[in-house]
Formats: sequence, C-alpha cells, structure tokens
Amino acid sequence: MLVIWILLLSLWQQPCAPGPAGASPGDPRPRRDAGGRGGVYEHLGGAPRRRKLFCATKYHLQVHPNGKINGTLEKNSVFSILEITAVDVGIVAIKGLFSGRYLAMNKRGRLYASENYNTECEFVERIHELGYNTYASRLYRTVPNGASTKRKASAERLWYVSINGKGRPRRGFKTRRTQKSSLFLPRVLDNKDHEMVRLFHTNTRYRESLLRPPSKNQRRRRGR
Ligand SMILES: *[C@@H]1O[C@H](CO)[C@@H](O)[C@H](O)[C@H]1NC(C)=O
Repeated sequence: MLVIWILLLSLWQQPCAPGPAGASPGDPRPRRDAGGRGGVYEHLGGAPRRRKLFCATKYHLQVHPNGKINGTLEKNSVFSILEITAVDVGIVAIKGLFSGRYLAMNKRGRLYASENYNTECEFVERIHELGYNTYASRLYRTVPNGASTKRKASAERLWYVSINGKGRPRRGFKTRRTQKSSLFLPRVLDNKDHEMVRLFHTNTRYRESLLRPPSKNQRRRRGR
C-alpha cells in the first residue's frame, strides 16, 4: 500500500509538459560542439586564447580559407591569428580567426584547414623547454610494429604539427618532437594584430576582401 502511494506521489510530481526531445531534465545547459561560439572550452570554464603560433623555423602558422596550412615570415598576417581552445584536458582545437577553419591532420599525416570541427582537429598540446609547445594529432600516430621480429620493436611515435624551413607543412609521420619545425611559441597579439581583428569584426568590405576566393582569371594563371 505504501509503495503504491509513493508511486502515485511521484507520478503526481512529474511535470505535465515533456521537455524538448533529446534534452534530459536536470541538464539545462544546451550541449555545444567546439564549432559553436564559445565552444567546448566554455564547458571547461575558460575563454579561447587568441594567439599566433611562431615556429622555431621562424614561420607563423597560417590557416587559410582555401583549406591550406602553411607558414609566413610576415609578422602580421591575418591568417596567422588563431583561437586556441581547450576541448579536453591537454587537448586543444586551433581555429584560424579570419578563415573560421580548424587546423586538422588527416590519416596520411597531411595538415589541412577544416571547415567543420571533427576529431582530426584535436591536438595534444605539450609544453617544452624555452616556452615552446608541440601539437600532436590526438587521432593518428605511428604505432609500434609488433610483427617485426628481426628489428627491435619501434616505439610509438606521435605525429606533430610541423612547418619546415621553407614554410611548408611536414607530413605527420616524418616529424619528431625534437625538430625545430615541430616547436611553436604561442605569442600574444600585438597592436597591429588587434587592429586587424577589430577591422575584421567591424568592416564588412575588409572582411570580404580577405575571404573572397581568387577570381577565375587569377586561378587560371596560377594553374599554368
Ligand atoms: C601559403 O598559402 C597561401 C594560400 O594558398 C598562398 O597564397 C601563399 O603563397 C602560401 N605561402 C607560402 C610561403 O607557401
């Protein structure tokens, strides 16, 4: 009898209106992906860090709207301004502020600028000596080959974000933690960078001129 009463009482207390599909009661905060404003980092309790990543090879990492990743020797390049967001403990997503694309590494170790956030955009951030960081793919690495019997079993190797001495990205499996090309100094923005960010947010024409894809003529010329 008591059990029935408790059941009736608990039914009585159920809210009449069902919540939106998929949302569980007691979890009022909407789930977000890292692509959204604020993103997962908000969930971890902090804001994205606005930085430039200066490689020990003297290049600033750039995330281009056309999907390309490379380095520039220029001190102030719009595509080198990044937003670094922690998506998990020790794991970051790196987004080009101007291109809106994420730094990503595919399974062949190639860096690209991804339009959408996915697991290829997650990197393990480690601090090294002299303030340099490394960024290794969370997803892909060289796993030890257990089948090789004659040779000593190779150790697991991480695939690092890496910009070589010509400003070009290295394939992940060719990278080493100790190479200059894998070491990045996170730099805060200078006044000129801040001014470019301000213009980007306030001046539509400036923004459009930066993000406009090359005209057909330019593309044809480049293709030759
Ligand atoms: C980097 O990529 C951009 C966009 O594709 C290109 O315009 C630029 O020339 C490249 N820079 C270098 C140093 O390769």
